[in-house]
Amino acid sequence: MEGINFYNDKLDLNKIVNSEEYKNSDESLMVCDVTEILKKYNQWVQFIPSVKPFYAVKCNDNIMVLKVLNSLGVNFDCASKNEIEKVLSIDVAPERIIFAHPAKLLGHINYAKLNGVKIMTFDTDFELFKIKEHYPDADLLLRIRCEAKLALWPLGAKFGCEPIVIAPKLLELGKKLNLNIKGISFHVGSNCLDHEAYNEAIYRARQLFDIGKELGLTNMDLLDIGGGFPGSNDSGFKQISDVVNMALNKYFSDINVHFIAEPGRFFVTTAFQLLCKIHSKREIRINNNIEKIMYYINDGFYCSLNVVKYDKYKPIPKIIKYQSNTNCVIDETNLDKEMLKETTATTFVKLYKSCIWGPTLDSLDIVYDDINLPYLSINDSLIFDNMGAYSVISLSGFNGFMPPKFKYYLNRQYNVKYVTEIEGM
Ligand SMILES: Cc1ncc(COP(=O)(O)O)c(C=O)c1O
Repeated sequence: MEGINFYNDKLDLNKIVNSEEYKNSDESLMVCDVTEILKKYNQWVQFIPSVKPFYAVKCNDNIMVLKVLNSLGVNFDCASKNEIEKVLSIDVAPERIIFAHPAKLLGHINYAKLNGVKIMTFDTDFELFKIKEHYPDADLLLRIRCEAKLALWPLGAKFGCEPIVIAPKLLELGKKLNLNIKGISFHVGSNCLDHEAYNEAIYRARQLFDIGKELGLTNMDLLDIGGGFPGSNDSGFKQISDVVNMALNKYFSDINVHFIAEPGRFFVTTAFQLLCKIHSKREIRINNNIEKIMYYINDGFYCSLNVVKYDKYKPIPKIIKYQSNTNCVIDETNLDKEMLKETTATTFVKLYKSCIWGPTLDSLDIVYDDINLPYLSINDSLIFDNMGAYSVISLSGFNGFMPPKFKYYLNRQYNVKYVTEIEGM
């Protein structure tokens, strides 16, 4: 793996784009600014100090991300044997891993057992019987369904049991089977926009802790508030943390329960920028007037830019012209609204109806079918911000195209002590 490059003040994308390495590469480039992960960690500690984060590896399993989070003392949420294996490979103790998948494959349960990963979730009687047979010593969290009214990715249709009637029955069954019921978990939905959902879910969880106590489940001392925290909206995160802190105070101040969470996109979204190159183009002309320009770039739907469909995220690209000393940076807010746009005091840039295709032969592989862009040339670069979450993790290699390359950066001035620690990583 590439090591970390250090910078002062500001990460200079122009310099990267003008490097021989970038110019000579066919692949797109993911630029990871580790400083952003440090900032996110500091935000977490500042705003939700009572909740221990277990980073959701499914969001982005990049080994540098895992190592940085590990060095900060963040724990890990894994969905499968492979994710557990990856996290264990960087010397994370198994007690710092939660196997947070309510419907687990048998081989994965056996792997967790063999490697000492004890905490896992369940949400059906079938899963309880499976665990009773194959891993009766596991520490179990009952995942309940408490969905946000509005979330980018609702998860309740697939996982989480109904919290009022079914959940108590599952607790009772756990008691009968003599399993170690450790607590309650929920996930309100990824990128949650209904902050009150956390309050409701924490309230429901408290009721289940009381029911557990009545049932004689004496080991219930862990509440897992899941993920759902935004990746690039700091004020949204602050608002959620206010709701979470208030609810934990209101419903859990009188019992001895530890709090954990499974943030994914929160930690990584802003840390990654994707640099793509235009490698081919086509101009559609009528009477010699340009009607539309098609650009073909070296990343797309089957690579990191699957986010346009899978994560419903349509990032507006910034542009760096090839070998130009001056950046042609587009004002994102006005990009699609005006055909003629003043970008500097002196230059006017005409915008053209354009579309951006990914590199494969599939016509589904489209990033933008209708976007207004200045006239661009082969080798110009498009820069997509906030690309860290649920992007490269789902790439498919369709048509034999390669994944992006990665480069890592850290602001030397942000945390001098951390720079010294990480230099040897
Ligand atoms: C069980 C579980 N935990 C955590 C996460 C991470 O969620 P987010 O990225 O919204 O924080 C997910 C996302 O799907 C999940 O399914």
